[in-house]
Amino acid sequence: MHLIAPSLLSADFTRLGEDIEMVNRSRADWFHVDVMDGVFVPNISFGMPVIKAIGRVARKPLDVHLMIVQPERYFEVFRDLGTYCLSIQYEAVTHLHRAVHQIKELGMKAGVVLNPHTPVDVLQDIIADVDLVLIMSVNPGFGGQKFIENTYGKILRLKELIKAKQSSALIEVDGGVDLNNAGKLIQAGADVLVAGNTVFSSADPEATIGLLKDAAAGGAIQ
Ligand code: DX5
Ligand code: ZN
Repeated sequence: MHLIAPSLLSADFTRLGEDIEMVNRSRADWFHVDVMDGVFVPNISFGMPVIKAIGRVARKPLDVHLMIVQPERYFEVFRDLGTYCLSIQYEAVTHLHRAVHQIKELGMKAGVVLNPHTPVDVLQDIIADVDLVLIMSVNPGFGGQKFIENTYGKILRLKELIKAKQSSALIEVDGGVDLNNAGKLIQAGADVLVAGNTVFSSADPEATIGLLKDAAAGGAIQ
């Protein structure tokens, strides 16, 4: 069964506690927490004090997506903030093997994120070591962007690579996920769907999470 990770980037920050309680009540599996530094991506989201507050009320695992340069500087900090899975951008790290192992040694699951232009093949020699691969289906930096259709093919290729290397990595998809493409993404092999705008802009966010959770594999893949 696929997992749903609502992205708090699209929450209403004037009532963040209520939105977190809604996710707690819902059938969501993880909280997706987007950290942006204004350097790796053009936007700045939120930092440690806010994540600390999130951690105090969140009753589901924190899935932290770092869109920052030199993420190694903060691995321990994110561990101390209660991170379950820490994902770093492939494009932001020179020594990815070392970084992945540092994250795991700190007791967190290690994820690697691929930007839309980065082919899955670059993971050949690291896929057996990672717990999760996050495929960006928009260019990172903002919520509410249009889904990039090439993502389906990337999921299929990544699935092949995971199989070939006997990796147990989960495949997560982030950006522009909605009720129309969820079934196709699951059909292609996605294990975790992140959804920001689709959840928090809907009239009934809790019900929308339920609909994403109930999305069945299906739909033709281009
Ligand atoms: C984008 C972030 C996403 C974002 C997704 O840089 O990584 O997690 O919140 O938002 P939606 O689902 O609205 O595209
Ligand atoms: Zn994200």
